[in-house]
Amino acid sequence: MNYEKKCFALHRRFNDDGYATRTTIEQMRVEKSIEHRYDVYFENDSDDDESVLKIILFRAEHIEYLKNGLFKPLDHHFYVLDTSRSWMVYWISLSLNLLGESDYLKEKSLQIISFLRNCESPHGGYGGGPNQEPHLAATYAAVNAIVTIGNDIAFNSLNRVAIEKFLRRMQQPNGSFTLHESGEVDIRGAYCALSVAKLLHIPTYPESDLFHGTADWILSCQTYEGGFGAAPGHEAHGGYTFCGVAALALLDQLDRCDFDALMHWTANRQLSFEGGFSGRTNKLVDGCYSFWNGAVLPILQSWRVGKNQMVSLDRWLFDQEALQEYVLICCQNHPGGGLVDKPGKNRDFYHTCYTLSGLSIAQNSFNSRIVIGVSDNLVEPIHPVFNIPCQSLEALREYLKRKDNQEELK
Ligand code: FPP
Ligand code: ZN
Repeated sequence: MNYEKKCFALHRRFNDDGYATRTTIEQMRVEKSIEHRYDVYFENDSDDDESVLKIILFRAEHIEYLKNGLFKPLDHHFYVLDTSRSWMVYWISLSLNLLGESDYLKEKSLQIISFLRNCESPHGGYGGGPNQEPHLAATYAAVNAIVTIGNDIAFNSLNRVAIEKFLRRMQQPNGSFTLHESGEVDIRGAYCALSVAKLLHIPTYPESDLFHGTADWILSCQTYEGGFGAAPGHEAHGGYTFCGVAALALLDQLDRCDFDALMHWTANRQLSFEGGFSGRTNKLVDGCYSFWNGAVLPILQSWRVGKNQMVSLDRWLFDQEALQEYVLICCQNHPGGGLVDKPGKNRDFYHTCYTLSGLSIAQNSFNSRIVIGVSDNLVEPIHPVFNIPCQSLEALREYLKRKDNQEELK
């Protein structure tokens, strides 16, 4: 049996029971385009071994695409993405690190840091680009980029006192966070603020009043489906579910949500034919949810193991092989590198970052490695709560320990 047949035997197609709607037609069109990708990949293959060797991560092409892009946000070529320039630096830096280019990032750290310094507000926090108002999501992106670089040049650029002041200004009386001054309040704000605070050892509730009431507010965003919405009453969505789950894990309050419904909802976002995840019920597969949903189950499982409620971390509670096949076979369709949402879509740095992050999660279980295709497909492991390479987090931990010791001696 060749690889193509095996995959289609294992994965089930969508069945509209004879009642076509716009949604079912779109779903079947996507399945056809995925089938076509498998045809292109495995035509003429007679055995599994031959097919598996064709599943290759196009590492060199992705690296070239990313390196060419890195200095574009700095040069301001992408004027349509003017408010996402700190995000672009993060997406590209993380992707390069995942692909084994951490030394290159360190080499370029001065240039990257000086660009991010221009995005920093004199009152604390970072904007999406130079001279822009500080924004919580842009601050999360800038801090994650700096930590991802992983050396003292990068870490020394972090102004913890100013960042804490910015976080405090964004906190609302009910514990939620606005993304910027007089801006929208949603669950991204709470996660971004918590991630930054925990990374930088900024004291949080109950040691300080920062994040007082935040867990209750996040819990009110869990829906009847089990996932989390952007704000109370909104539809459950993979992106917001990641924010809610990671934030509750950082607050050590995950057991207060409906844990079983959450696990059930998240596992059911993986589509049986495509192998990738969708963001919400009855929606289409998209490579970026490989991370947003793919990271949720490891966080939940690690939590249960930490509380002695589960015995094994050998595998995540989703089909890790199928997710890798989706990323490697369906999301790599640009000859010049870069990954996509689904076949037929354009490449971009956001999807390149989150498909590779999802690939990392799918390959690196807590206690084992599962690598589909050639062994060289393995990418660096990341921390599922922060989406930062484990090695960079370790370097930050060492740096903060040194710094805190120096402060104590003063
Ligand atoms: C729906 O788009 C997507 C959203 C409404 C936003 C999703 C949120 C995130 C990706 C999380 C952001 C996280 C941080 C840390 C800032 P759509 O309707 O085009 O896609 P869909 O059909 O897949 O739902
Ligand atoms: Zn997407």
